[in-house]
Amino acid sequence: MSSEAKPTRGAPVKSTNLHIGEIKPGVAKVDPIIVADNVTRTFGGLTAVDVEHVEVPRNAITALIGPNGAGKTTLFNLLTGFDKPDTGSWVFDGTALAGIPSFKVSRMGQVRTFQLTKALNLLSVLDNMKLGAKGQKGENMFRALLPWTWRAQEEQIEAKAIELLSRFKLDTKAEDYAASLSGGQRKLLEMARALMSDPQLVMLDEPMAGVNPALTQSLLDHILDLKTQGMTVLFVEHDMQMVRHIADWVIVMAEGKIVAEGPPEAVMANPAVIDAYLGSHHDQDLGATEEENVVAMKELLDADDES
Ligand SMILES: Nc1ncnc2c1ncn2[C@@H]1O[C@H](COP(=O)(O)OP(=O)(O)OP(=O)(O)O)[C@@H](O)[C@H]1O
Ligand SMILES: [Mg+2]
Repeated sequence: MSSEAKPTRGAPVKSTNLHIGEIKPGVAKVDPIIVADNVTRTFGGLTAVDVEHVEVPRNAITALIGPNGAGKTTLFNLLTGFDKPDTGSWVFDGTALAGIPSFKVSRMGQVRTFQLTKALNLLSVLDNMKLGAKGQKGENMFRALLPWTWRAQEEQIEAKAIELLSRFKLDTKAEDYAASLSGGQRKLLEMARALMSDPQLVMLDEPMAGVNPALTQSLLDHILDLKTQGMTVLFVEHDMQMVRHIADWVIVMAEGKIVAEGPPEAVMANPAVIDAYLGSHHDQDLGATEEENVVAMKELLDADDES
């Protein structure tokens, strides 16, 4: 996190006592919202995801971290029905979800945003928001012929969209094309749109990537607010300072597997995590972002040594 993004409203209140028993990869949670078993996904000869067991704690903020190519986005795609696993099953809030398509998953209360934003450029910001609403009566062909049945709902949806846009400080852009937004504003729009369906679980894939430092604090605050409002957050992030600042729990992936988990401080001091980031098999093909991660990780480790 850059200096502009320092917390302005005090340290967030961390949720604790989330797990049961000894902390290890796949550890059970007191109140899991997601429980996944034997989830695998291969691309040709490459195993992108190979998760034996993982549980995501409810009403907490969990960070999913790991080096580039670890399988974080692929796991997100699987859990949200945007991709199909080779094997595996998982339960979201008590309902088995494997094989359920993405639009149904989001109606059930599990929404996600994308590493590369997917705002529809040629629609207005407001119309992008309206698309996030679930169970719209106007979508049903029969009802579409009976406009009085959906006009009231349409008005409710619009009012909700405008309320959310003002919360995310995008209300003045409501009529603009989504294409005109900056990268950071698009991330905000994606998050605001995800909230249109009153989700229980919000999954954010690198919400801070490409966001101007002027907007990072507000994004952080929005993520913290989701928990305050009773939602669960699972987010992928490379910025370890941000992870440390807002995450209650951290799950670490490397080469498709869960290699460590625990509270942020413990995870970042865990040799398996340091190995995943700094290990010899990752020192080829280091992109700029991963090099930055390594530097960030080293700085964090140095800071730990000094304290
Ligand atoms: N559609 C695909 N076809 C082939 N290989 C894929 C596909 N999607 C992902 N992969 C491969 O699967 C592995 C995991 O990729 P994934 O995008 O899930 O990693 P990630 O942890 O999200 O990485 P990053 O931090 O860079 O976003 C990588 O080796 C990637 O190249
Ligand atoms: Mg990714």
